[in-house]
Amino acid sequence: MRIGVLTAGGDAPGLNAAIRGLGQMAFRNGHEIIGIANGWAGLAGDFSGRPLYQNDLIGVVGQGGTLLGTARFDLDHPAGGRDQVLKTISEHLDALVAIGGDGTQRISSWLAERGAPVIGVPKTLDNDLEGTDYCIGFDTAVSIVAESLDRLYTTAASHHRVMVVETMGRATGWVAAMGGLAGGADLIVIPEFPITMDQIIAHLVKRRSSNNAFSIVVVAEGINLETIGGHEEAGVSTEGIGGVRLATRGVGQFVASQIDAHGGFEVRTTVLGHLQRGGSPTAYDRIWATRVGAAAFDAVVAEQFGMIPVVRGSHVELVPLSVVANGQRQVPRELYDLCAAFF
Ligand code: F6P
Repeated sequence: MRIGVLTAGGDAPGLNAAIRGLGQMAFRNGHEIIGIANGWAGLAGDFSGRPLYQNDLIGVVGQGGTLLGTARFDLDHPAGGRDQVLKTISEHLDALVAIGGDGTQRISSWLAERGAPVIGVPKTLDNDLEGTDYCIGFDTAVSIVAESLDRLYTTAASHHRVMVVETMGRATGWVAAMGGLAGGADLIVIPEFPITMDQIIAHLVKRRSSNNAFSIVVVAEGINLETIGGHEEAGVSTEGIGGVRLATRGVGQFVASQIDAHGGFEVRTTVLGHLQRGGSPTAYDRIWATRVGAAAFDAVVAEQFGMIPVVRGSHVELVPLSVVANGQRQVPRELYDLCAAFF
């Protein structure tokens, strides 16, 4: 079989491990792997596929980024991109493995509904895909947030400061909540459980009066600014898969400026940004990305198209792409309450 593979949307540590997992299984079983450059863009215009060989996959398990390149390519503007992709797949490939987040899997699901031989693989640093306990890149991001908080802790404590730390997390607060839990955050603000600016300041005042001379406040970039003070969104731009660029809103800086304006606190802001996405994946991300990549190969040869391998507990299972395409997994109340028990 000629099995195409693409990575679409934002990159994430572990993508290369997944490509390798798929590719090595394919080579071992006598199939061909066609690497598609730059996500859906590589199927919407001139076909960008080129065969991958075993040499292409040597040494990549620990490398960040994606050896295929990626893009936030919009197949709907101008219209007709999806139909072009359908045509390209039927002309050049026997199967396609699409590694990506919610936007990518919505397209995969749409293609599969129209008979295209597509299998998904779950990737998003935001960790909010429905139907899976694991998304490629999340574990690495959480480790980076935790290590950053460890570092900020010592300087915050030395200067008796409030450190506001902005993490990624477009619509959900998984990275902020789990990174904050691992790094001992003194307050975590996420979209799922909104709080007001007054509540944030009241919490810091209470901590100070209990002899906690410094605080680390973690905010997810996707929090609704209206809940923290009616701040207008500014400089927001949009683009392809993934939509609005939330980092341009500067929520971390906004929260810090409001704490500063209250008086009595010395405040600093750290925006972790793309440091959470760059560099090599953790061992956990390497292992599970390899497993879902290899499971995608099994699904292809079994012709279980329209499915996506997901992790549930300690197992990989297949679920329909429509499950991932139509839902969003949020941080549950009990997990946030556990984080809050340490505030
Ligand atoms: O969707 C994953 C993500 O890392 C979000 O957390 C973040 O908002 C977005 O990508 C940033 O995307 P870009 O790299 O295109 O600015």
